[in-house]
Amino acid sequence: MVEVEGLSKRYGELVAVDRISFRVERGEVVGFLGPNAAGKTTTMRMVTGFLPPSEGTVRVAGHDILEAPLAARRSVGYLPETPPLYPEMRVKDYLHYVATIKDVSRRARAERVERATEACALQEVRTRVIGTLSRGFRQRVGLAQAIVHDPEVLILDEPTAGLDPGQIVEIRNLIKRLASESGRTVVLSTHILPEVEAICQRVLLISRGRIRLDGSLDEVTRGGSLEEVFLREAAVNDEGEPTGEEPQS
Ligand SMILES: Nc1ncnc2c1ncn2[C@@H]1O[C@H](COP(=O)(O)OP(=O)(O)OP(=O)(O)O)[C@@H](O)[C@H]1O
Ligand SMILES: [Mg+2]
Repeated sequence: MVEVEGLSKRYGELVAVDRISFRVERGEVVGFLGPNAAGKTTTMRMVTGFLPPSEGTVRVAGHDILEAPLAARRSVGYLPETPPLYPEMRVKDYLHYVATIKDVSRRARAERVERATEACALQEVRTRVIGTLSRGFRQRVGLAQAIVHDPEVLILDEPTAGLDPGQIVEIRNLIKRLASESGRTVVLSTHILPEVEAICQRVLLISRGRIRLDGSLDEVTRGGSLEEVFLREAAVNDEGEPTGEEPQS
C-alpha cells in the first residue's frame, strides 16, 4: 500500500533522510518512531507528496507520487504536525472546503462530511468556529480533514501531541477505529511508546535519517521493552554503532 525505495532528503549539507526503504501492507498499523530530528516528519511529508524527495521513489496505493501525484494524493489522508486548520471557519464549512479541494464529487460531499464528522465525534461542535475549540477537538477536526475523502492510507504525524491524558485515550481509540473500520493502512509517528503498544502491530524506527529497525511489535520487543529498544537504537552513529550518548528523547 505504501512503498518507499531509496528515499532521501538533503537540506544543503544536512542529510535529513538517507536512502530509506520500507513497505507498509494494506491494513497494517505502523508506528514510526525515532528521536527528535530523526527525519520522521520529513519522510511523512515526502510520502504524502508535500515535499519533493532529493532521490528515491514513493508509491501510495500503486501510484507513484511524482508520476501520478493527484492519484497518489487522493489515496492518502495526512494529519501534519500542525494541522492546516482555518481558525475563523466553522467546522462543517471547513470540512466541506477540504472535501472540495480533495476532489470529492459534489454529490458525495455532504455525505462524506457527515461521515467524517461522526467518525471523529464532532457532531456537537459542527457549527462552532474552529479557533474557539479546545486542542483535543481541533485535533479531531484535523483527523476529520484527513479522512473526509475516504483515503486508503492515513499518515498521522504525532496525532496526540499536546493533549491531556483523557483526550489522548480518545484520539487513540479513534485512530484504532479508523484503522479497523475499513481496513485502512495507518502510519503514525509518536514519541509515546505506550501509544505504539496500544495501537500498532508494527514498528519502524528511524534515527539520523536511517531505518534502524523494522518488524512486528513482538519481534522488535524480543530484545527488551520498547523503551529499551528505542533508547539503544536511537543512540547509534551513522555506521549503526552505539555512540554511548544519551539520546535526545
Ligand atoms: N526546511 C528545512 N530546512 C532545513 N533543515 C530542515 C528542514 N526541515 C527539517 N530539517 C532538518 O531535518 C532533520 C529532520 O527533521 P524532521 O522534522 O524530519 O525530524 P523529526 O523526526 O520529525 O523530529 P521531531 O521528533 O522533533 O518532530 C532535522 O535536523 C531538521 O532540523
Ligand atoms: Mg516531526
